[in-house]
Amino acid sequence: MQANERARPLRVGVAGLGRLGRRHALNLAFRVPGATLAAVCSPLEDDLAWARDVLPEIGCDMRLYRDYAELLADTSVDAVWLVTPSALHAQQIVDALRAGKHVFCEKPLSLDVAECERVVEEARRFPGQQVTIGFMRRFDPSYHDAFSKVRAGAIGRPFLVRSQTCDLNDPDGFFVRFAPTSGGIFLDCTVHDIDVARWLLGKPRATRVFAAGAVALHEGLRQFGDVDNGVAICEFEGGKLAMFYASRTMAHGNDTSSEVIGTAGALAIGHVPRANRVEIYDAQGVRSVCTPTFFDRFEEAFLIEAQAFVAAVRARDGGEAGAAEDAAAGAGQGATLEDALEATRIGFALRESLRTGQAVTL
Ligand SMILES: NC(=O)c1ccc[n+]([C@@H]2O[C@H](COP(=O)([O-])OP(=O)(O)OC[C@H]3O[C@@H](n4cnc5c(N)ncnc54)[C@H](O)[C@@H]3O)[C@@H](O)[C@H]2O)c1
Repeated sequence: MQANERARPLRVGVAGLGRLGRRHALNLAFRVPGATLAAVCSPLEDDLAWARDVLPEIGCDMRLYRDYAELLADTSVDAVWLVTPSALHAQQIVDALRAGKHVFCEKPLSLDVAECERVVEEARRFPGQQVTIGFMRRFDPSYHDAFSKVRAGAIGRPFLVRSQTCDLNDPDGFFVRFAPTSGGIFLDCTVHDIDVARWLLGKPRATRVFAAGAVALHEGLRQFGDVDNGVAICEFEGGKLAMFYASRTMAHGNDTSSEVIGTAGALAIGHVPRANRVEIYDAQGVRSVCTPTFFDRFEEAFLIEAQAFVAAVRARDGGEAGAAEDAAAGAGQGATLEDALEATRIGFALRESLRTGQAVTL
């Protein structure tokens, strides 16, 4: 984009219109200033039918592609938004960079460490293009407030993070169907907690991990070497530590929370996963409804993350001075390729530890 095009919106093409891609597409179509949803892409007719039904109906003008190569060949698309199966991310990022596009890609960067390294290497050849990996928890207002407080010294020197990602049980077997492409519970769920821990602890290097797991309900996960409940410990250089828990079997909803402990205090983020501020007082006691899914918990974070990406790209492509500063702050908050590489490296080591029953030294 040239400087004289600065008033033009960023034209985005979303690839993948499944569980999460549709949410991203709706955000980009209607809720992100400076962005236009120019195209969508999915090999599935059901997904394209959804786009035909839902997006034009509410006034969106865009093109539909079945083939990712066609999306990349569309010269009117400035940025691609990858919400495709995790095993495809690495090659799709490389292809998008070579096609001259900016890239937003959902987590994880890849299920394979060497693939992550290849993307980091390739991206260095395209310094003018933005690449951000979607660790949206960094944009959640509560997580961001905790991060700012840690940075300001509110709890002294942070040295320990406890963090969990726990999904509502799905008795219909969604998690078993998702297992062949998810990378397993540690690369799919815990990868968020790993990123949060590194982010809150100042990006220390991991030195050793140990993981264990159990199949509490979903026997079908065993054939993929996966579990529905996993715990892990991660040691970092400089005496820093993290403890992780991930579950697919919660009875009450999506229960995602983190805690950071420092030498002069601690911060807890989201320990009671309330859907809203209503308390029910009845014969069973006093309770709240829980956030049902990850999207209900992090809807605002997904939106702020998209707004920050679009602002960052528009600023680097020739925006105004003030916008550039705001965008630099937003871009700095997001996970870089190097952050995403480290998250996969640690998540992969946890999967190895689960498989072998041994600690893994990194
Ligand atoms: N940030 C989060 O908390 C979060 C939550 C859920 C999913 N995710 C990530 O989002 C990604 C998608 O997850 P999902 O749950 O939406 O999966 P999904 O299976 O529901 O959707 C995947 C979509 O990608 C499409 N697709 C497959 N191959 C394609 C190709 N070559 N080109 C274009 N589209 C293609 C599929 O047709 C489908 O529409 C995964 O990487 C997952 O890890 C992140």
